[in-house]
Amino acid sequence: MIHVHVHPDKATAVKSVAASIAKLIRERAAKGQRTVLGLATGSTPIPLYAELVRLHREDGLSFRTVTTFNLDEYSGLGPDHDQSYRYFMQQQLFNHVDVTPSETHVPNGLAKDVVAECAAYEAAIKKAGGIDLQVLGIGRTGHIGFNEPPAGPSTRTRQVHLDEVTRRDNASFFGDVAKVPHHAVTMGVGTILDCRRVVLLAWGEGKAEIVQRSVEVAPADSCPASWLQQHTACDFILDTAAAAKLSKTH
Ligand code: PGA
Repeated sequence: MIHVHVHPDKATAVKSVAASIAKLIRERAAKGQRTVLGLATGSTPIPLYAELVRLHREDGLSFRTVTTFNLDEYSGLGPDHDQSYRYFMQQQLFNHVDVTPSETHVPNGLAKDVVAECAAYEAAIKKAGGIDLQVLGIGRTGHIGFNEPPAGPSTRTRQVHLDEVTRRDNASFFGDVAKVPHHAVTMGVGTILDCRRVVLLAWGEGKAEIVQRSVEVAPADSCPASWLQQHTACDFILDTAAAAKLSKTH
């Protein structure tokens, strides 16, 4: 079941998400427990990370008890490439908070043995106790992580071929669509469904149609995000534009 929360704008929306992440981290830390966060990249979560950095600086939120696992990474890009997702996470969050570097995980886009890398990633998530809260964006293809359609609950961390829509949507970051990698390593839809809580963020009218399909059309591999309807604790955090095509209040 997906719970939809509509906010007047993304700034208000990310404040509520950051506050709930901060609460989770603090409550678990008070009990001596670590918090395992699943993190996303792309333009959508940038203001969320800015708000978490602000909470660290101004409100004493510590990430010393936090372990992170990112959803995905482009194949062929190393941590020093300015479009790699490891680089993104360092710039947007990790360099600005007190997280322990070895507790941050992003799939290795340069792994020689990709199958072994993916199995090791799944094993590391399991060893950490599973993901407490996974942050997601959504692509116009209905992808979560880089799970392009068709993809369903049986999929786990693996290498995938990127949809041309996604490559074009991400071309502006690379300056030229030809520079956008054709492959990526991503957690699977099944890996995401195993997370204890899922929070999907979407802003703007460009996401309205895929948000409507994900929430209101029966789950199908043709829209991987629609499988989130089968999750027991999934919130969609939207601005009014991204919620505009929903037929009712959820
Ligand atoms: P975006 O990408 O945040 O850049 O819109 C979202 C996604 O592809 O998951």
